[in-house]
Amino acid sequence: MPSLEEELFPSTPGKFKDRNRHFHRCFASTSTMFLWALFLIALTASYLCFQSFVDSGNRYFSATWGGHHWEKQVRTSAQIRRSHGMSVLVTGAAGFVGSHVSLALKKRGDGVVGLDNFNNYYDPSLKKARKNLLNEQDIFVVEGDINDSKLLLKLFDIAGFTHVMHLAAQAGVRYAMENPNSYVHSNIAGLVTLLEACKNANPQPAIVWASSSSVYGLNEKVPFSESDRTDQPASLYAATKKAGEEITHTYNHIYGLSITGLRFFTVYGPWGRPDMAYFSFTRNILQGKPITVYRGKNRVDLARDFTYIDDVVKGCIGSLDTSGKSTGSGGKKRGPAPYRIFNLGNTSPVTVPMMVGMLEKHLKVKAKKNFVVMPGNGDVPFTHANISSARKEFGMREARRK
Ligand SMILES: *[C@@H]1O[C@H](CO)[C@@H](O)[C@H](O)[C@H]1NC(C)=O
Ligand SMILES: *[C@@H]1O[C@H](CO)[C@@H](O)[C@H](O)[C@H]1NC(C)=O
Repeated sequence: MPSLEEELFPSTPGKFKDRNRHFHRCFASTSTMFLWALFLIALTASYLCFQSFVDSGNRYFSATWGGHHWEKQVRTSAQIRRSHGMSVLVTGAAGFVGSHVSLALKKRGDGVVGLDNFNNYYDPSLKKARKNLLNEQDIFVVEGDINDSKLLLKLFDIAGFTHVMHLAAQAGVRYAMENPNSYVHSNIAGLVTLLEACKNANPQPAIVWASSSSVYGLNEKVPFSESDRTDQPASLYAATKKAGEEITHTYNHIYGLSITGLRFFTVYGPWGRPDMAYFSFTRNILQGKPITVYRGKNRVDLARDFTYIDDVVKGCIGSLDTSGKSTGSGGKKRGPAPYRIFNLGNTSPVTVPMMVGMLEKHLKVKAKKNFVVMPGNGDVPFTHANISSARKEFGMREARRK
């Protein structure tokens, strides 16, 4: 009968005995034992090193930050160059919306410091390219994670931000089935760490942050208004964004932080996220490959309230300009602070076949469409924003087709 040892050392019985004896001889002297121990320690250490390398490489960027030169870059980037300007920490600055908002703020003379962890949810080279655009306009982008409280403390210490534009998040609906913890890390833990830093800062900044139209979940009443129910999310992404709205509310209530939550409706435009359908459709159409077009129940077309990036940037900046001050200091509230939620949409939903039609027209190629009924556990069938609040508050405009 084969024993365990035989499986580990497959050999003929005679030879196995020899090897066993050899082992004994090896451990017999103390000096060889010492060498073995050293070898084992080295092995363990290199394994641990490799593990942490794999961790930081694969999941979250663990950057080295700090030092005189680094601090100087942060300070310079945060400098305000207009009267009554603001100094803004933009999280997710190498992202789609983050890069556009950073450039727009800088252009009008506000101080901007970016923060981004350059994770590999999609090709980080696109994020690096956006970062280069920002660098060209003298915007410094810190490579680090929003859940790094020491880094945030340092940044607030150096730059004393008046505002935080919080756009860092784990995006995407389907990716949650693959990596649910990534949503918890960024959208929950990271958010709380950021709010803690804002709460402790003196003076406290006002916060504008990206929630999502996905919080409307399976609602059927259109258009979606801010006062509608948001308690039936259809994805973990939506659930973490909804949780964010509740978490920011408590920080507003307890610590007097000025909070504005923006429910973005399917933002599109140049430098957009490559996981969006208009990119994958375009690629497949040009390659002559079929595209999958999902349909709802009873062959109803899916629709999204596609919103152009420039409109979203205006909404973000309008929110910052009208945010009102945080009222806390030393972690205590001195009076009530604003808590606002706005839809940022286009109020003009486009069905997926309409979008494909536009791509066909501009690419001058006919798409091969596979219509598939959306599975019962899929994303929401349609979105449609009521933006009358944002229109009233900062002149958000509607129904623009690009
Ligand atoms: C976020 O940071 C906190 C505090 O440093 C830490 O305890 C927690 O494990 C981190 N959470 C995640 C999901 O990385
Ligand atoms: C849009 O929202 C406003 C509140 O901001 C509400 O008064 C109005 O009735 C809503 N419009 C529709 C068509 O639901």
